[in-house]
Amino acid sequence: MKILICYFSGTGNTKKVVDKYAQSFKEKGCLVDTFRVENPDFTYNVEDYDMVGFGYPVHAFNAPAIILNFAKRLPKLAKTMPLFIVKTSGEPLKLNNISSIKLVEILKKKNFVLKNEYHYCMPYNIIFRHTDSMAYKMWETAKKLVPIDCQEILDGKESKLEKVFMGKPLAYLFRVEHWGGRFNGKRYKVRDNCVHCNACVKICPTHNIKYENGEFHFGKNCIMCMRCAFLCQQNAIKIGLFEKWKVNGPYNFQKPEKEEVDNHKKYCKKSYQKYFEKAEKKIRENEKMESNETPNEKIDSKIE
Ligand SMILES: Cc1cc2nc3c(=O)[nH]c(=O)nc-3n(C[C@H](O)[C@H](O)[C@H](O)COP(=O)(O)O)c2cc1C
Repeated sequence: MKILICYFSGTGNTKKVVDKYAQSFKEKGCLVDTFRVENPDFTYNVEDYDMVGFGYPVHAFNAPAIILNFAKRLPKLAKTMPLFIVKTSGEPLKLNNISSIKLVEILKKKNFVLKNEYHYCMPYNIIFRHTDSMAYKMWETAKKLVPIDCQEILDGKESKLEKVFMGKPLAYLFRVEHWGGRFNGKRYKVRDNCVHCNACVKICPTHNIKYENGEFHFGKNCIMCMRCAFLCQQNAIKIGLFEKWKVNGPYNFQKPEKEEVDNHKKYCKKSYQKYFEKAEKKIRENEKMESNETPNEKIDSKIE
């Protein structure tokens, strides 16, 4: 089985999950290629693959513009292509399910057929910083879910996320973020503590930051991915109207040695609880199923 996964990741969460997908598929005997859509050189022939995956972080209950634009540029396929979608987001609200509506619509016209869709909670890169224990718990959960979800995909067991009432018009309204990002991006500023390392210029996925005559210029192509502000080692980038929501510095995803104070423990509490309970149930059921397999079945599934 040959699988291609095209993805965007602003600050690394989606990349972590997609890399885990690639590893899990490979362990199950598949050939996997991954492609970051910000890379201009897409040299893959999609029709050479048996299945294609798309990965992205949810941005305002939508897929980021960069992933939609990439999908629009793909050629129409001569044969139908099974499609799976992998999304990460900071909170587990059901409203995040609507984020793929536009992407699926674009890809459907190109002969892609959605078979599976999975959502993983990963720590916020905007709004507020999740505690290290929460980031650890999210990633540990995703790591256990991904191999199970990969197996479902390979077994042809379809799995879609629940539909949301009025999902399409809602997603359309929230896509104002695509324009809002461009508007706000022009309002980014660099503080005096900047050491002019130019890391932001180098890592911006849309090459929206220019450094000329000792000054930084932010253009109109910002996609609000947060990479520049999140990874700035000096925390020197001000993100316009959303400065109060800025999160700076990567998560280490390690279990913290002592409990931290969680200032947001009430935020979406029930949704997180539901998400983790559902995930744990799926993980437990899978473990039970695996332990019920006969020794021969276990060997068969490893050598298949
Ligand atoms: C502009 C923007 C909008 C976001 N909107 C949402 C959202 O609607 N729902 C959500 O749960 N998380 C939202 N997030 C959080 C990200 O989806 C989440 O942190 C994701 O895992 C980041 O992935 P990445 O590191 O691959 O970019 C948003 C993040 C950004 C930067």
